[in-house]
Amino acid sequence: MSKFLLITDLDNTLVGDAPATERLNRSLMAQRQQFYLVYATGRSYLSARRLQQQAGLLEPDYWITSVGSEIYYRGEVDPQWAKHLSQDWNREAVVAIAHQLPFLLPQPESEQNPWKVSFWLEETADIKAIERLKREFQQARLNAQIIFSSGRDVDILPCRSNKGQAATYLREWLGIPPEKTLVCGDSGNDISLFQQPARGVIVRNAQSELLQWYYNGDRPWHYLAKSPCAGGILEALHHFNFIDFSKFPS
Ligand code: GLC
Ligand code: MG
Repeated sequence: MSKFLLITDLDNTLVGDAPATERLNRSLMAQRQQFYLVYATGRSYLSARRLQQQAGLLEPDYWITSVGSEIYYRGEVDPQWAKHLSQDWNREAVVAIAHQLPFLLPQPESEQNPWKVSFWLEETADIKAIERLKREFQQARLNAQIIFSSGRDVDILPCRSNKGQAATYLREWLGIPPEKTLVCGDSGNDISLFQQPARGVIVRNAQSELLQWYYNGDRPWHYLAKSPCAGGILEALHHFNFIDFSKFPS
């Protein structure tokens, strides 16, 4: 049987309900040879590795980190992906514009990288601030995308980058068809995962920006789970028949 591909966000998707994560781990471990596992997170690689330890997560085959701006395999960053993102990307110009806007508070250095510039939106600012940032980039003819998550996080990335585009790059590299791929997420930086051809699950505890996007379209290949976090992933594996649960007493 050919392998399937499981691509999941970490915070508030795979992680967030510890007993459910453990249940999912057990089901997956019993069939570990039957799928590739990819973690797709907004966190930096080091921070994601720390979370893996703390939450007792399985070892994945690949890591998509920093909102898709980096891909890691066996501890090394993928140089091909880095080269791909570096084209048509002017980080200095992005930083110069973004730093002029008073409603953007820079995130710590550890969350910045050559292809990701991250801020927090000031609490008193509203969503129009993001539109303003977009306009500033357009006026400066800068190729940059803005990703807004959890009502607070503002990530600026090259247009070629994001979790979804990184996921497709890996999926094609592994030669897995979309119908054998499941993507899982809960917030704005996961929308790009759902914009790629694949099955998808939105966990019950999803953030409003993702739910709004979901309700604005009609895409039956996406499943809104009844359970939060890892429980929602388990539900979807069942719903899309990725795993034969009849083999497991629960
Ligand atoms: C993670 C990252 C942060 C990013 C957020 C949303 O929390 O640490 O830099 O803004 O995800 O993508
Ligand atoms: Mg998340």
